[in-house]
Amino acid sequence: MIKAVRGTRDLLPPDTALWNFVEQAARDVFRTYNFHEIRTPVFEETQLFARSVGEETDIVSKEMFTWEDRGRGQSDKGQSLTLRPENTAGVVRAYIEHKLWDRGLNKLFYIGPQFRRERPQKGRYRQFYQIGAEVIGPPTAGSESPARDAEVIELLATFLDRIGISGWTLELNSVGCAKDRPRFNEALRKALEPVVTSMCADCQRRADTNPLRIFDCKVPDDQPIIEQLPRISDFLDEGCRTHFEQVKEILTAVSVPFTINDRLVRGLDYYTRTAFEFTHGALGAQNAILGGGRYDGLSESLGGPPAPGIGFAIGEDRLVMSLNRSAEEAIRKPDVYIAPLGAGMNQEAARLSRELRPHDIVIELGDESFRLKKSFEAATKAGAKFILIVGENEVKADAFALKNLASGDQVSVPRQELAQRIKSGR
Ligand code: HAM
Repeated sequence: MIKAVRGTRDLLPPDTALWNFVEQAARDVFRTYNFHEIRTPVFEETQLFARSVGEETDIVSKEMFTWEDRGRGQSDKGQSLTLRPENTAGVVRAYIEHKLWDRGLNKLFYIGPQFRRERPQKGRYRQFYQIGAEVIGPPTAGSESPARDAEVIELLATFLDRIGISGWTLELNSVGCAKDRPRFNEALRKALEPVVTSMCADCQRRADTNPLRIFDCKVPDDQPIIEQLPRISDFLDEGCRTHFEQVKEILTAVSVPFTINDRLVRGLDYYTRTAFEFTHGALGAQNAILGGGRYDGLSESLGGPPAPGIGFAIGEDRLVMSLNRSAEEAIRKPDVYIAPLGAGMNQEAARLSRELRPHDIVIELGDESFRLKKSFEAATKAGAKFILIVGENEVKADAFALKNLASGDQVSVPRQELAQRIKSGR
């Protein structure tokens, strides 16, 4: 038997109703904040992720699904391609490729699959889904303003409240910028010098190539050392400090609670200034429901013009897991089961359903080979509210027996009154 590949899974009804519920709620919220949808390809040149997410990150160094594409000849040369592990890089590539700065501030959202070769466990998959957003544009469009950071975070609080997720925690930090990072790296290297040889192999390498990534280390023995390292909050320059203060002030003004976590650096290299995560207790070890932050130098590092930006991605798999709602509740059951009775009645039933469905009536259509008893069983199993009998007598009279399956009440309803009757009874 061929099964779904390790770390991937099928999403089946009724669970898919929950996925649609959160996606619809996200679209509704994005609309009220004036965000518009962007869809970028599922695979990109490997270089895009190496240069944006960063060579030294776990994502790029260990987790990407990468392959050499052979190409098909002279003008179609071979190249290294990668299934996207995240969507920010693709959005910024598209921003540069389509010169989206002409549009001023771009407020974009996306919903789609991402791919990372991580060790599968509860809440962690190799194909997972993100609902994300990016605000990006030239500095003249206000893209650098702390008001954008606060708005994006406030949007998230609104969205989580709206879909009924309570008990989240917002952790906030500022990871500084290109100007203060060298000073911090220097201090880190110095602090690491006497202790680094007792750390894991990854940390030893990171100490040399990208010391900030040491904060991603999960090895238990390394934690007491990491605990003693200098904090980035002590190295922020004046601009970063003021920016962070203003983000916090607006969040306080709009009553979005947060805690400061000055060890939060996020596992991607492009972050500058504001970085944040929302966690949820019900999730267990993989408790980050979403993460995001600012990436003011990313466009330049991909060859584009200055385009400060901020965004986030929600792990949709984890979001659905923390929903306090059953899939059965989210699914819309049929309003009516149409039961054709006897030869030739499939046609009549099909005609009726074609008339009724445009009235936003959910119909399960039976089959004329079913006896009445079997039709009733099928209607009950489908969870239909009514059963509608379509037999020769009904067709002749152009009025149909409509029975409420819960109460047992049955009435004969003329064809032109059916839609109204079914809708008022649901
Ligand atoms: P990230 O923190 O790597 O950020 O991923 C965001 C969220 O995706 C995580 O908080 C988690 O909920 C979910 N996630 C990540 N990996 C997995 C996995 N293997 N299985 C299930 N869920 C997972 C980013 O991706 C950035 N692009 C976010 C961003 C947008 N920053 C600025 N703009």
